[in-house]
Amino acid sequence: GVPIDVDLSKIQEGQQIIVMWRGTPIFLMRRSKAALARLQDPVQLARLRDANSQVHQQPSYAMNWHRSVKEEFAVLVAICTHLGCVPSLVSKPDPAEPIENWPGGYFCHCHGSKYDLAGRVFQAVPAPYNLPVPPYHFVADETVRIG
Ligand code: FES
Repeated sequence: GVPIDVDLSKIQEGQQIIVMWRGTPIFLMRRSKAALARLQDPVQLARLRDANSQVHQQPSYAMNWHRSVKEEFAVLVAICTHLGCVPSLVSKPDPAEPIENWPGGYFCHCHGSKYDLAGRVFQAVPAPYNLPVPPYHFVADETVRIG
């Protein structure tokens, strides 16, 4: 597989792009300060299945609370760990649920799995583990090389 370089500078806060790398969709998101704060909220952490990603080995550069090289940028394999659908970015809480149950993040419409903006899966959903972090590093301040 050939590595790809992606310019992140045009991604607005709270938005993401999806690129294809070796036939795999990759989420690239610029997280807001509020979103980063939510990733450290003990109430939300207690609701995750595997807050420290111990079930599947993380790349060393993602062994941190934000699961990424740079705090503001999420780089995640965009494939639900249940049966492989592409989850959707949900910026607003589901109106059917109280906000404390669903702060927004990635929602898989296939069978209802929910992930936070670090790709960490919530409890009581079918997906067994967190969204994987692909191999990547930064080649410029806001340019990432995947692969
Ligand atoms: Fe995502 Fe089943 S494939 S919940």
